[in-house]
Amino acid sequence: MSDRLKNKNVIITGASGGIGAQMAALCAERGANLVLLARSLKKLQELKADLQSRFSVDIFVHKLDVSDTDEVSAVFSEILARIGRVDILVNNAGFGVFREAHEAKMEEIKGMFGVNVVGLMACTSMVIPAMRQQKSGHIINIASQAGKMATPKSSVYSATKHAVLGYTNSLRMELADSNVIVTAVNPGPIETNFFNIADEKGTYVKNVKRYMLKPEYVALKVVDAMLKPVREINLPGWMNAGSIVYALFPGLFERIGKRMFNQK
Ligand SMILES: NC(=O)c1ccc[n+]([C@@H]2O[C@H](COP(=O)([O-])OP(=O)(O)OC[C@H]3O[C@@H](n4cnc5c(N)ncnc54)[C@H](OP(=O)(O)O)[C@@H]3O)[C@@H](O)[C@H]2O)c1
Repeated sequence: MSDRLKNKNVIITGASGGIGAQMAALCAERGANLVLLARSLKKLQELKADLQSRFSVDIFVHKLDVSDTDEVSAVFSEILARIGRVDILVNNAGFGVFREAHEAKMEEIKGMFGVNVVGLMACTSMVIPAMRQQKSGHIINIASQAGKMATPKSSVYSATKHAVLGYTNSLRMELADSNVIVTAVNPGPIETNFFNIADEKGTYVKNVKRYMLKPEYVALKVVDAMLKPVREINLPGWMNAGSIVYALFPGLFERIGKRMFNQK
């Protein structure tokens, strides 16, 4: 196993479950010190206890709702003062609700943008000055294939992830001269609790179950790319191929792929 992550400081938002918790475990296994953030402090404390019983790394957990930008500012200031240096920030906190645009409640729309977009930007803003100054670092934004290809019943969620990709692409160019790597991660459906909220009726999970990605696999792909100059991680390969064809022939693809797009 490579020791690239040994003694590096890694911050992960949304680390209390799903791919966030899996990435945390892999980083700890590779010797990284961790700052784990989420709203469920109890789950973070359990994860910390489990990881520290297996790996000798420093782990600091803190309750944080990334959509509360004042809280982001306060918590990140505390973290920076405590650990001194941030090598990697993984902006992973996020959620979706699958509904047609006319059914989406304003609360949900603001909620999704607040966490997936504004929260991600707030956390990123807190590490940029230090990374620019140290002339190194890696910002990893967990977006989605939904950020490349919108589908019915995910107008709002797709819009948040398109926003994440736009932000990420600009940030990558802004930070290139400071030697800070910026990576977008665009997975297709992953077997996590994400769908407890996103897919209330279970229709989507039923339709796509056979090709859902395992969270351990997605986490491994992300952790393997840490501190490497990787522009994007797109999973699975066939879905990425679909996104590329869609970008080239969107009208044709929407007509031919109508059935495939209507899985929610
Ligand atoms: N599952 C998929 O099919 C899929 C596909 C593509 C992309 N993604 C993206 O992958 C990321 C992780 O999702 P997942 O599949 O691992 O889902 P998950 O199991 O539901 O985990 C989501 C994590 O985000 C945290 N979170 C949610 N709202 C938050 C908030 N306001 N502030 C801080 N943390 C918050 C949750 O912790 P607390 O509840 O404790 O706060 C949890 O740890 C998300 O950005 C999601 O959009 C998921």
